[in-house]
Amino acid sequence: MSGERSRALFDRALHVVPGGVMSPARSFGSVGLEAPVFLERGEGAWVWDADGNRYIDYLGAFGPHILGHGDCRLTAALVAQVQNGILFGTPHQGEVLLAEKLVAAVPCLDQVRLVSSGTEALMSVVRLARAATGRDLVLKFDGHYHGHFDGALVAAGSGASQTADGGSSGIPAPIRHRTLSVPFNDLAAAHRAVASHAQELALILVEPICGNMGVVWPHQGYLQGLRTLADEAGCLLAYDEVIVGFRARFGPAYPLVGPAPDLIAFGKVLGGGLPLGAYGGRRELMQLVTPLGAMFQAGTHAGNPLSVAAALTLLKILAEDGVYQRLEAGSKQLADGLLAAGLRHGWPVSLSRLGSTWTLFFTAQAPSDLVGAQSQDQALFARFFGGMLSAGVLLAPSFYESWFWTLAHGEAECERTLQAAEQVFAAG
Ligand SMILES: Cc1ncc(COP(=O)(O)O)c(C=O)c1O
Repeated sequence: MSGERSRALFDRALHVVPGGVMSPARSFGSVGLEAPVFLERGEGAWVWDADGNRYIDYLGAFGPHILGHGDCRLTAALVAQVQNGILFGTPHQGEVLLAEKLVAAVPCLDQVRLVSSGTEALMSVVRLARAATGRDLVLKFDGHYHGHFDGALVAAGSGASQTADGGSSGIPAPIRHRTLSVPFNDLAAAHRAVASHAQELALILVEPICGNMGVVWPHQGYLQGLRTLADEAGCLLAYDEVIVGFRARFGPAYPLVGPAPDLIAFGKVLGGGLPLGAYGGRRELMQLVTPLGAMFQAGTHAGNPLSVAAALTLLKILAEDGVYQRLEAGSKQLADGLLAAGLRHGWPVSLSRLGSTWTLFFTAQAPSDLVGAQSQDQALFARFFGGMLSAGVLLAPSFYESWFWTLAHGEAECERTLQAAEQVFAAG
């Protein structure tokens, strides 16, 4: 299905890159295709591959894109920053501005540290919770993905869901055993885990609305239940908002579904496509971070001026009137249309959406946990993915991922995508 040039590049990559890809979720193996498409260019809602084929982009680079490709305001800010210097290794004005904007937009944030990825943000959250509590056990949830540091790779989601146990080899058993994982949306299971380890628990770490087994919402009252459990056990509660932060509203997603956490992490959207993560929380917790406290966290590229320039420009655009309403309206129209078309043609599909991201699940009932997400029909998804790709619509190559709509997507893209889906569903 990939064109000749993508295929040739992949053959070369296989010699010098493990599996031919820099990150496992980029492989097309799970949708039964021999080679992934190699993209060369993006403009607005569209991307072009090495063979000159163009696609409407719903992969969205796995979540960072919310403006679309090549937004001229973002490009201008980046060019200006390149001309002024891209990295200094000292504090700079932009990072102060960005920290102020984040603190103003996120109610649970008194102080924030900028890092270079979601993984780094979550790794720091876990270390900080351990430093603050003097305990070391972490409770997470099956199918939630918090990056690729050792302790997070227990029953993990996203690309790690494709491994035998949702984890990784190479993780020392003592570290693995310091992470407990229970099913999402099952408060009794979380209660049991907390009750039997209350004295050792440093942190309950959760995606408040999950994006790594598809978009999965918490049941009503579930996050409040976790908040209560954390308070009773004397441990911290942290939200991983790397996918959902700034996606459906200006700021964190958690006010839609639950109480404030003690710590929070951002990534993806915040960087406008450049590498950027952020974590923070209450002042007394953040005072434990070096150089004030003893919890060490550092980074050569932390708060780098280029990523910060992108984030400042992005936040300015996202704060404009009507932006999230536009994202919501366009996404709803397409997502509703996709579901209706699938059902009309008798496909066992369901859909779950958070603003401009959604998952079309290949199972009749939208999942509420990992077991539900795993019950999807893989062969059906592979058929849908291949059909859409041939029709010029690029999706993430895994049914554990989501679609991402941007401000550059509009009526024309919606219509074209629905036509493509209609054909694929009709072909059966
Ligand atoms: C919820 C969540 N947390 C953390 C991460 C890790 O972020 P990064 O890939 O930037 O290291 C991801 C990435 O997919 C994520 O979806």
